Amino acid sequence: MKKIGILTSGGDCGGLNGVVKGAAQMANSLGITPYVIPNGYAGLYNLIDMDLITALTPDRADKINANLAGSEAGHSRVKVKKIDDPKKYERIKEGMKKFGIDGLVISGGDDSGSVMVDLYEQGIKCVHAPKTMDLDLQTYSVGGDSTVNKIAAYVEELKTTANTHNRIMVLEVFGRYAGHTAFRGGIAADADAILIPEVPTNFDIVYKHMKERFFGRILKSDVLAGQYMIVVAEGLKTADGSEIYDESAGVDSFGHKKLAGAAKYVCQELTKRLKADPEIKELMKKARMFVEKMNEIPEVRSVVPGHLVRCGHSSAYDVNFGKEAGAAAVLLLNQGTVGVTIVGIDGDKVRYMESKKAIEQRHVDLNQVAVYEAMGTCFGRTPQAYLPKFEKAEGRITRHL
Ligand code: F6P
Repeated sequence: MKKIGILTSGGDCGGLNGVVKGAAQMANSLGITPYVIPNGYAGLYNLIDMDLITALTPDRADKINANLAGSEAGHSRVKVKKIDDPKKYERIKEGMKKFGIDGLVISGGDDSGSVMVDLYEQGIKCVHAPKTMDLDLQTYSVGGDSTVNKIAAYVEELKTTANTHNRIMVLEVFGRYAGHTAFRGGIAADADAILIPEVPTNFDIVYKHMKERFFGRILKSDVLAGQYMIVVAEGLKTADGSEIYDESAGVDSFGHKKLAGAAKYVCQELTKRLKADPEIKELMKKARMFVEKMNEIPEVRSVVPGHLVRCGHSSAYDVNFGKEAGAAAVLLLNQGTVGVTIVGIDGDKVRYMESKKAIEQRHVDLNQVAVYEAMGTCFGRTPQAYLPKFEKAEGRITRHL
């Protein structure tokens, strides 16, 4: 390998600049020149038409702020297979040849990973550095920790306003059809209820939990204050297994429905029950909150941070993991191991797995849900007993969120 391209793709997230910088710095140290392939697969497809691409020389790489989320390399959501051009793979290969690029470090999630597998099967040498704030790959993916920390911080911050207004607050977060970030962010901030796609939501159960905790808090408070915090994943499913889907949200360029409307739906379901519940008037009176026609039921309000959960600054963990994943990808590429996804650097071992396997979707383990149900968090179902098996660990354990 003399020259490599660094490409980032899919939804951006924390730690990606760590990947770009780590890959560039490791390449430079091996005497390989790293280049940015701008704007993901769209840029790769159009490489042939570019006059110049940026080399991440040691000085240029030094200017990349690894702590900033997002990617200096830029992103697009383009499935190469779907490009309406019978010569697309030749065009990509010619573009790479034009700049003398021997192989690619590709950082992306499941969709971008599947494109990477496609390119690899077309004979392009590439290694996948896993990234997705959704955390739904088999490996830990850069971006997850940053997002979990942001969600936890938002829930914590929202508590101040929720507590002041005695409100039930619903925070809707990205994550598509996996609930990892809603789950871990919610747990980290002591959310009362966490609604994830892996557990179809029974709103009667959420309502009962909410009513007891919310009024319990207020009635036990010496200043009659309380709140109830719900984190809902955008991919929420109702008890009958159907998705909440807002037609007006449209589809992205990978062809996926953009998810929207989960928090609004939760608000509606809870408000409906508050209005229909004959005990609410009495509880509001006990809480000294009741005012005829003005304040008869508590408010259920939604907040949708959208891209705020994946922008700004990266967590320290993601910068570390990102740099190592980028560096590991270059080491593998350089010694000819391609078509693989980085698991991580573990001491003197660079661990990887076959990309086809790594991009298989991983969902929240319902045993983990049961652990937190045993501790009182509501997941919108009848709590299931946690039945642990006890096992003595041997050696070092690699575990991800
Ligand atoms: O896959 C990452 C992700 O952040 C999802 O959680 C979210 O649904 C989607 O990307 C949003 O993507 P975009 O920024 O393209 O709207």
